[in-house]
Amino acid sequence: MTISGTTSGPELLVELDRSGPEPLHRQLTNGLRDAIRTGRLTPHSRLPSTRVLAEDLGVSRRLVVDAYSQLVAEGFLLSRHGSGTRVATVDAASAPARGPGDASARYDIDFLPGSPDLSSFPRHAWLRALRQGLSEIESDAFGYVAPQGLLAARVAIAEYLRRTRGVIADPHHIVLCSGATQAIALLSQTLRKTSVAMENPGFWLHRMILRHNGIEPVAIAVDDDGLDVAVLSTTDAKAVLTTPAHQSPTGVVLSAARRTALMEWARDGRLVIEDDYDAEYRYDRAPVGALQGIAPDRVVYIGSTSKTLAPGLRIGWMVLPAHLSNSIAMSKGLADTGSSVMDQVAFAEFLTSGGYDRHLRQMRRRYQIRRSALMQALARYLPEATVLGAAAGVHLTVRFPDGFPIEKLVRRAARMRVRVEPLAPCYAEPATAPPGLMLGYANLTETQIMTGVRALARAME
Ligand SMILES: Cc1ncc(COP(=O)(O)O)c(C=O)c1O
Repeated sequence: MTISGTTSGPELLVELDRSGPEPLHRQLTNGLRDAIRTGRLTPHSRLPSTRVLAEDLGVSRRLVVDAYSQLVAEGFLLSRHGSGTRVATVDAASAPARGPGDASARYDIDFLPGSPDLSSFPRHAWLRALRQGLSEIESDAFGYVAPQGLLAARVAIAEYLRRTRGVIADPHHIVLCSGATQAIALLSQTLRKTSVAMENPGFWLHRMILRHNGIEPVAIAVDDDGLDVAVLSTTDAKAVLTTPAHQSPTGVVLSAARRTALMEWARDGRLVIEDDYDAEYRYDRAPVGALQGIAPDRVVYIGSTSKTLAPGLRIGWMVLPAHLSNSIAMSKGLADTGSSVMDQVAFAEFLTSGGYDRHLRQMRRRYQIRRSALMQALARYLPEATVLGAAAGVHLTVRFPDGFPIEKLVRRAARMRVRVEPLAPCYAEPATAPPGLMLGYANLTETQIMTGVRALARAME
C-alpha cells in the first residue's frame, strides 16, 4: 500500500498484510518507524493527516491516531496543533528500537541492553509496601502536592543514597521524576542556553533529548579511563553529562585521576551531571562512590529504579546543588505537576522496610550467574569478540575487529529472531563507530543466553 503523493504527505510505502497474524496497528507503527529509521521518511517531512492516511490504507482513523501517538511518545514524530504531524528533527534515523511495545515482540531472544529481569519484579513485596504506605499516609497527600515529590519519599531516598553511594543528599534538594529520562529532559530545559558536553560514545537517548531541547552536545571521547577530561577542558562546555560508575555503553569506570580532574574542571561554576547508571550492580571490582559526594555544589546526581526494579515504574530522582533545586522543581511542576503519589508511597515504604536492599542482593547474585553464562558463551562461540565493561551493570559490550560487517550480523540475527543492538547509535557520528554490540543479559535465562550466542555465531557464518 502506497501513501499517495496527493495526500499532502510524502510518497511512502507501508505494507499492511491483512492475512498475517500481526495486528494492523502494530504493522503500521512498525512500518512508519522503520521508514524513519532507515531515512525513507526524513526529518521535518509532514505526514498525511490521520483521516487521509486511514482512507488510503483502508483502516480506521483510530488505528492511525494510535500509531501516530505511539511514535510521538517514542520521539520519532512531532505533533503540533495547526501544523500537523512531522518527522522529528532528532537523529531518529539511528535510534534503535526500545521496549516490548515495538521490536521485542518480534524476537524470541532479546539482548536489549537496558532491561533488568522483568519476571523478577517483587510483586508481593511491592503490594505489601503499597498497602502499608497507603494505610499510614495523610489524606492531604492525595491532592496536588509539591512537584518535587512527597517529603517521606525524598527522605527515604536521601538515606539510601547516603548509605550506599556516599551521596550528600538533602531531601529538600531532591526532585523525584519519571526516570533518568525526565531528569535529562528537565535539565536540558534549564540548560538550554548553555554549552553542554556529553560522552562519545554515550547513551543515544540522552543525546536525542538534548538535541530535542535545542542543545547540540559537545562530544567528548571516552577511553579506558572513562571520559577524557583533558579534552573536555579544551572546550567551552559549562556542563557535562557523564556515567562515571559504568560508562554507557563501554562499561569503563572513571579512573581516580580523572575523577579528581573532572571535579577540578567543575570549579568556577561548571556543572557535572552524574548519571549513576548501573551503580547498584557490581560484581568483581571495588566499589566506587558517587562523584556527588565529593562536591555536592557542582554535581547533579541522577538515579532511577529502571535497572533495579523495572523501567515501567518510571521512578527516578535528581539530587541537585542548592542553586538549581527551585528551578528544576518548577520545571517538574510545569511538566506534569509531580510524579504519582502512589508509586512514591510504595517506594518509600519499600526502601525503609529493607525490601529494596533484599531485592538488590538477590538480583545481584542472579545477574552475576547470567553474566558468567554470557562470558562463557562468547568465549566458546564468538572468540573473535573482545568483551568490555563486564565488571558491573546489566549489559556488556563486545567489539569485533575493524571492518567486521556488524550491520549484517544484526540483520541476520534478527531473521533468527534474536535481537542485538549495535554500538553505532551511541556515537555522535554513527558512521565512525567501531564494529560492536551491546548485549543485555539480565532479562534472559542462561539457556536463552547460550542459544542466543550460538545463533549469533551461526549468523556470522
Ligand atoms: C545510560 C542510561 N542512564 C539511565 C538509564 C535509565 O533511564 P530511565 O530511568 O529513564 O529508565 C538508562 C536506561 O537505559 C541508560 O541507558
